[in-house]
Amino acid sequence: MSDAPLLELIGVAKSFGAAKVLSGINLTVGHGEFLTLLGPSGCGKTTTLRIIAGFERPDSGKVLLRGRDVAGLPPYKRDVHTVFQHYALFPHYSVFENVAFGLRIRRLPEAEIQARVTEALALVKLAGFADRRTTALSGGQMQRIALARAIVGRPSLLLLDEPLGALDLKLRRDMQLELKAIQRRLGIAFVYVTHDQDEAMAMSDRIIVFHQGRIEQTGTPAEVYHRPRTSFVADFMGSANILSARLLRSYEGCARIRVEDEVEFDLPREEAPPALHGGELCLAVRPERIHVRYEEELPLRGDCVSLPAVLTDTVNLGDETQMFLSLFKKSAKTVVAASMDARHQTERQDGTPVWVDIRWKDILLLEPPPVG
Ligand SMILES: Nc1ncnc2c1ncn2[C@@H]1O[C@H](COP(=O)(O)OP(=O)(O)OP(=O)(O)O)[C@@H](O)[C@H]1O
Ligand SMILES: [Mg+2]
Repeated sequence: MSDAPLLELIGVAKSFGAAKVLSGINLTVGHGEFLTLLGPSGCGKTTTLRIIAGFERPDSGKVLLRGRDVAGLPPYKRDVHTVFQHYALFPHYSVFENVAFGLRIRRLPEAEIQARVTEALALVKLAGFADRRTTALSGGQMQRIALARAIVGRPSLLLLDEPLGALDLKLRRDMQLELKAIQRRLGIAFVYVTHDQDEAMAMSDRIIVFHQGRIEQTGTPAEVYHRPRTSFVADFMGSANILSARLLRSYEGCARIRVEDEVEFDLPREEAPPALHGGELCLAVRPERIHVRYEEELPLRGDCVSLPAVLTDTVNLGDETQMFLSLFKKSAKTVVAASMDARHQTERQDGTPVWVDIRWKDILLLEPPPVG
């Protein structure tokens, strides 16, 4: 079974009382992979991690480690280590003893404990801190000790539940890069939980986007960002303007799309995902992909759609100008455009008629949200 993936979840479901918390969770983690579970609060990330670690049992479905069903195997026999957001360090122990704790329980020889702890502390850049009390450390240093304690036992899989959640933004960004570098160097697979899409984008080999106990999409950071499948993913990964749309028909390599029951246009078939066969869709476009054009200016060259709009508000955010635009007369949908273009920094009067140009390739056609 050596070619089995490191970890596999097959059809995992979990309820707490009447509340269905997870359903139909299928995922795999490769050896040495950095996989992130991303989603809003309450979507089931921690529960999934606890099921992998063995702190919680699934109601149905399987957890396989290296191809072996681990149902009934207690957490400490799983070759998996978990780092929680609130790392429980022992305040009356030194940094060294905090890291050595698990090795002492396993009764490793003293010389090996010394060597391994020293190596782990060096890896998290706390080589000189071995004799310190953990109460005399900053949040970032404590998080590093928690990490050293996790990697010193050399598990093949490390589960991390919002491990940087308690740190301020600057330290968080630094630690993201460090964690990623340590993961690469050790070749340990990480399953990393966060609700921060920037963090997920920066660190992961693959991202699984969770929503209400289900997997919305699995893919590389670039795939989930540039090719979201659903409006939830499009909006959660960055932000998106979402309009209702309908695929009217496909002919001669073109898909005829109607937007908000107001405007129709043709999109080359290759720009529309093949899975979409018709009916109701969502059309999404990211704010930075909307080109706002004043009436006296020439249209974008190339393949794009132009929609008439009215400028309703302009917000200057330093580098970036945000423009709020009202599309269409009947439904008056508001969309937001973000521009770094100097042309947009000189404010125009609210109510100015403009054109909204969107390149075909920047149009995201998505599955609509499920009803109910
Ligand atoms: N032991 C439990 N008993 C009852 N309900 C629970 C239990 N653990 C979790 N839940 C519920 O299950 C749902 C998913 O919880 P979970 O902790 O997995 O979410 P999460 O994605 O980790 O959220 P967060 O980002 O806030 O940590 C929530 O609605 C939560 O209230
Ligand atoms: Mg959680």
